[in-house]
Amino acid sequence: MAFQITKAVIPAAGLGTRFLPATKAMPKEMLPVVDKPAIQYVVEEAVAAGLTDVLMITGRNKNALENHFDRVGELEATLERKGDTERLQKVNFSTDLAEVHYVRQGAPLGLGHAVLRAKMHVGREPFAVLLGDDIIDSRDVLLSRMIQEQAKRNASIIALLEVDPSVAHMYGVATVEETDDPDVVRITGMVEKPAPGTAPSNLAIIGRYVLRPEVFDVLEHTPPGKGGEIQLTDALEKMAGAPEWTGGVFGVVFRGRRYDTGDRLDYIKAIVQLAVDREDLGPDLRPWLKDFANTLE
Ligand code: UTP
Repeated sequence: MAFQITKAVIPAAGLGTRFLPATKAMPKEMLPVVDKPAIQYVVEEAVAAGLTDVLMITGRNKNALENHFDRVGELEATLERKGDTERLQKVNFSTDLAEVHYVRQGAPLGLGHAVLRAKMHVGREPFAVLLGDDIIDSRDVLLSRMIQEQAKRNASIIALLEVDPSVAHMYGVATVEETDDPDVVRITGMVEKPAPGTAPSNLAIIGRYVLRPEVFDVLEHTPPGKGGEIQLTDALEKMAGAPEWTGGVFGVVFRGRRYDTGDRLDYIKAIVQLAVDREDLGPDLRPWLKDFANTLE
């Protein structure tokens, strides 16, 4: 019987320099998307896929993250006194969502380095990695599909998104071979942020991974790459080239809605897109947005 994955690792220790000064004293994963911090969407996604053991890799401003997933007595007491059960439920929801653990990265030496910090907690079992600044729309399926593929192929699985070639240089990009499944490809190579015009495909790597624990063995020997950072992409490329002991790497092509909240423009788009579909905000926001758009001509 296939191993049941229960652990999710969420790296949230990056410096978030694209969002300065907002991220001077707060991780970018705490930026609100409508009325929830980005990271809560990510934890909700993990829980929805059955992953209730969450390990967050935190950096220098970890307090806000820890506080968000913890009780806050004073606030709860005040809401209780006022009889505001609706808001009280919202406050308690993030506390009760999952069992959240924390480990510090120490220094932001790269995503690969952040993932390696999860080695002790994860042990020798497959696990998921969800980047704290990537939101996958809860109406679209991705993570549970990746978990299924991991069990079926006993490999590591990454998520891919078809992007316009003009923006491929902003992502890790995969070289792939087809499989018998139109949504699944075999990864033969990966390159982190290729120079413009040199990307090997239009399949960009997005922030969801379901990995075999051999990734830790590889990361331990992965030297700093692009930007002087220890890159997860470099370790995965090595695994793709050594299927005999890593199981190889496959990609699930995601065709749903994904929001990159680490980028300022995409962050603004994410808020608008998510808010227009909300029952409480959409009916007022949609006509306003149309009027506003007309003033832009
Ligand atoms: P990014 O490259 O998007 O994050 O990393 P960043 O470095 O914080 O962003 P900018 O470019 O300076 O604005 C992708 C994910 O990996 C985490 C980040 O928190 C983010 O979720 N990360 C990155 C770490 O946890 N540690 C690192 O050393 C680097």
